[in-house]
Amino acid sequence: MSNSNIAPFIKWAGGKRQLLAQIRERIPESFNNYYEPFVGGGAVVFDLLPTSAVINDINKALVNAYKQICNASDAFLKNLKELDEAMWEDGKGYYYSLREHYNDKLMREEFDVELAALFVFINKHCFNGLYRVNGKGLFNVPYNNSRKASSDEKNIKAISEYLKSVTILEGDFQVACQNAKKGDFVFIDSPYAPLNPTSFESYTKEGFDIESHKRLADLYDELTARGCYCMLTNHNTELINELYSNKGYKIDVVSVKRMINSDATNRVGEEVIICNY
Ligand SMILES: C[S@@+](CC[C@H](N)C(=O)[O-])C[C@H]1O[C@@H](n2cnc3c(N)ncnc32)[C@H](O)[C@@H]1O
Repeated sequence: MSNSNIAPFIKWAGGKRQLLAQIRERIPESFNNYYEPFVGGGAVVFDLLPTSAVINDINKALVNAYKQICNASDAFLKNLKELDEAMWEDGKGYYYSLREHYNDKLMREEFDVELAALFVFINKHCFNGLYRVNGKGLFNVPYNNSRKASSDEKNIKAISEYLKSVTILEGDFQVACQNAKKGDFVFIDSPYAPLNPTSFESYTKEGFDIESHKRLADLYDELTARGCYCMLTNHNTELINELYSNKGYKIDVVSVKRMINSDATNRVGEEVIICNY
């Protein structure tokens, strides 16, 4: 069991909370630095709380939220509390007005503490915690009808304390792992390989295509050659098996409930946990 008293501050597509027990069972007995190049909501890093960690994501608004919570937790909490308290009777109208304000700031690239608070408010009040943007990069997920408060002050304070010892990067996974060395542990939870052509797989307007999965498999091989411990999770699909089979990696298949899926009949599935040790 983990000793962590920290929970993710957002709900995130592909969040690893339900796989935590299986992930914990498989982490290396000891390692030097921890790398998580696709951190998303951070379910794994907040569970393991490694002492020397590097976290990364390509989503600028998400990384801004991590940085603001780390460096300006009081201002962040004040902003978020104000957003919660100012909620109109008409939650729907309020949500859409904040979504518009959020998109205006995003387009002006105002990556500040206000944007971080808006990001979390919107995450807590949008459908299924999805982060989806249109071709112009505008966030377009509808309201989830919730009027709940957006944050837990104690949790945000604990996250802020922990993040002070963490290196927070924003960008592509390959760059984020460039300094990983022998004895470091790299936990890799990329966007999922598609189950079918309509699967939810686009987290940013860039998406994560088949070429990205191939590039990631090359990186996995390279990190293995460097002597890093690597653990990767994904759907149990043909593509993933093709990319990681016959290389001496251990591929375990585990069952999961799929949380974000518009097709209610397809809510139980298989994932793989691939380790090179
Ligand atoms: C499956 S989610 C990670 C979920 C995370 N494990 C959790 O528990 O919340 C994948 C993440 O990869 C990010 N991403 C997509 N393309 C990327 C890239 N090229 N480099 C780094 N991160 C990327 C997405 O923004 C998303 O947050």
